[in-house]
Amino acid sequence: GKSYEFLLVSEPKPKVGLIQLNRPKALNALSTPLITELNSALQTFQSNPAISAIVLTGSEKAFAAGADIKEMKDLSFSAAYGSDFIESWSSLITFLKKPLITAVNGYALGGGCELAMMGDILYASKGAVFGQPEIKLGTIPGAGGSQRLTRAIGKSRAMECILTGSNISGTQAGEWGLAARVFETPQECVDGAVATAEKIAGFSQIAVKAAKEVVNKSQELGIREGVEFERRVFHGLFGSRDQKLGMGSFAEKGPKAKVEW
Ligand code: CAA
Repeated sequence: GKSYEFLLVSEPKPKVGLIQLNRPKALNALSTPLITELNSALQTFQSNPAISAIVLTGSEKAFAAGADIKEMKDLSFSAAYGSDFIESWSSLITFLKKPLITAVNGYALGGGCELAMMGDILYASKGAVFGQPEIKLGTIPGAGGSQRLTRAIGKSRAMECILTGSNISGTQAGEWGLAARVFETPQECVDGAVATAEKIAGFSQIAVKAAKEVVNKSQELGIREGVEFERRVFHGLFGSRDQKLGMGSFAEKGPKAKVEW
C-alpha cells in the first residue's frame, strides 16, 4: 500500500484497516500535512471493498496532543474563516460510511480529544488523558468538542472540563460513558479495538452501514423523526440479499450454517 510520513497503515486482520498516527516528536499534534495524510488513508480504506471496519489509534504516549499550536498561532481571522480551518479536516472523518473505532492511549487533548470523539466507538486505556485545554491558550474547542463532549458526558461535566481545562482520565471516561470500554494497557486497548472491528466486519456490510447511519441520525433528529427514519431504513433492508440469508439460515432446521455474507 501507500506509505506515509506521519501514519502507519496496516491490515491487522482480514477486512480490518488500522491507522496509527505517527508523529512522535510532536505527540501526534494534528498539523495540516498529518491531517491531509489521515484523510487520504481514510479515503483509501473507505473506497477499498476488502476493508469493512477501521481502527484509528496513536502511540502509547499520545493519541494526539491537539491541533498544531505552532502552525496556527499566527493564523488571522480572514485566513481561518476563508479556509474554513478545521472544517476541512473533520468533514471526511465525520462523513465516513464505514465503522471507525478510536483506540485512545496517552494524551487526547484539544483536537486530539475531538478527533477521538469523531469515531463511532471510543475505547481507552485507563491511563488515557482526555481534555479540552483550549481555554488555557485563550481560545475554545474548534473541532466539535463543545458539542460532542457535552452529548457524551452531559453539560455540567463538559462545562467544567472546557471552562477549567481540567483533564479526564481513561477510567473516568469509561464511568461517564465517553469511552465504551476501558482497558488496563495501551496494547490491550488497540487489540480490543481491532477485535471489535473484526467482529463488525463479520456481519452483513449492508446492515452495518445502515445501522451506523440510523444511530448517527439520533444525534440530529427528534425522537419521532428518528424512529420514522429508522423504520424506513429497516423496511429497505427487506430488499437485501443479506436479510434473506440471515433470517433464512436462522429459520432453517438442523445445524446452523455460518452465513457467508
Ligand atoms: N502542537 C504543537 N506541538 C505540540 C503540541 C501541539 N498541540 N503538543 C505537544 N507538542 C510538542 C511540544 O512543543 C514538544 O516539542 P519540542 O520538543 O519541539 O519542544 C513535543 O511536542 C513534546 O511535548 P512536551 O515536551 O510538551 O511533552 P510533555 O510530556 O512535557 O507534555 C503535554 C505533554 C501535556 C501533552 C504538552 O505537550 C501539552 O500541553 N501540549 C499541548 C496540549 C494542548 O494545548 N492541546 C490543545 C491544542 S489547541 C486545539 O486543539 C484547538 C482545537 O480545538 C482544534
